[in-house]
Amino acid sequence: MVAVRSDHLGSLDVYLHGAQVTGWVPSGGDPVLWLSPLSRYHANEAIRGGVPLCFPWFGGGPGDDLTPSHGPARLREWRLEAVTESSDHVEVVLALGRVGDGRVTGGPLDALAAAYRVRLGRSRLDLALEVRNSSGVPVTFEEALHTYLAVSDVRAVAVEGLAGADYLDRRGGRDPVRQEESVLRLGAETDRIYVGTTATVVVDDPGAARRLAVRKTGSASTVVWNPWAEKAAAMADLGAGWPHMLCVETANVRRDAVTLAPGARHTMVAGLTVEDRAGGPGA
Ligand code: BG6
Repeated sequence: MVAVRSDHLGSLDVYLHGAQVTGWVPSGGDPVLWLSPLSRYHANEAIRGGVPLCFPWFGGGPGDDLTPSHGPARLREWRLEAVTESSDHVEVVLALGRVGDGRVTGGPLDALAAAYRVRLGRSRLDLALEVRNSSGVPVTFEEALHTYLAVSDVRAVAVEGLAGADYLDRRGGRDPVRQEESVLRLGAETDRIYVGTTATVVVDDPGAARRLAVRKTGSASTVVWNPWAEKAAAMADLGAGWPHMLCVETANVRRDAVTLAPGARHTMVAGLTVEDRAGGPGA
C-alpha cells in the first residue's frame, strides 16, 4: 500500500491490490471516499469501498457471462511505477502488464495493459486509467472507476447532472429509461448505468455541508449504485454502512465500451473535487 501524508494536500491511500484507492482526506477536511469497516482484504476479493477499478469488463461483461465480476484487474497486484511530488500535487503511478496474466479466459482482453495515475491535489483527486492494446487484433473492453463517495445519508442527498440522460436499470428491464427528474433523489435500491453521458455529476450533501463533484473525460457512461438495506445486509462486507455511501462511477460500459485497434491507447479520467455549499473549496 502507498500511503501519502501531506500537511497541505491531505492524505491518500492506494493499495497495490487492484490499484485500489481506499482513502482520500483533503487537508483540514473529512474523508471523501467511503471505506467499509467490514472490508476483508482477501487476495481474491476487492476491498469494499474507495475506488475499485473494474476492467476489462463491468459486472459479468456485455454478455453477462464473464467471471470474476467486474473483471480481474481489481484482484491483481499492480506494479508501483513511480511516486512523484511537486508543490501542488503528489502522483502515484501503477501499472499492469497484461491484465489476464495468462490465467483469465477473456480471450484478447487478457492482453490489454494498463497504467493508472492517481494524483492528489488541493481539494481534488484525479484518477486516470490508460489502456493499451498490446495484442495484434482490435479489442473491445469495459472499464469503471467504481467510486464510493462518503455521504451523510444517501436518503438526503441530491444527485445533479443526469437530467434527461438514459439509463439501463440493472434491477431489471432491457430497454433504456430516461431520467425525467432534474435531480436524482434516492429512496430505494438504485443500480443504473447511464449511457451516452459525459456530464459532470455533483452530489449535494446538506448534512455534510459539502458538494462532491465528479468531472470526467474519455468516459461516456456513469453508474449510480446503492444497494439499500436488504441487499446490503446480504453482503458480508457492507452491512449497516449503506446509508453512508453512494457510488458514482466514471465508466465506459455496454454500448459505450471502447474498441482499441492493435497498439492503440485510450485514457479515461475522473476528477473528484470537494466544494462547500457556497461553491468554495471544501477543505
Ligand atoms: C455496481 C453494480 O457498479 O457494483 C452493481 O452496478 C453491483 O450491480 C455493485 O452490485 C457491487 O459489485 P461488487 O462485485 O463489488 O459487489
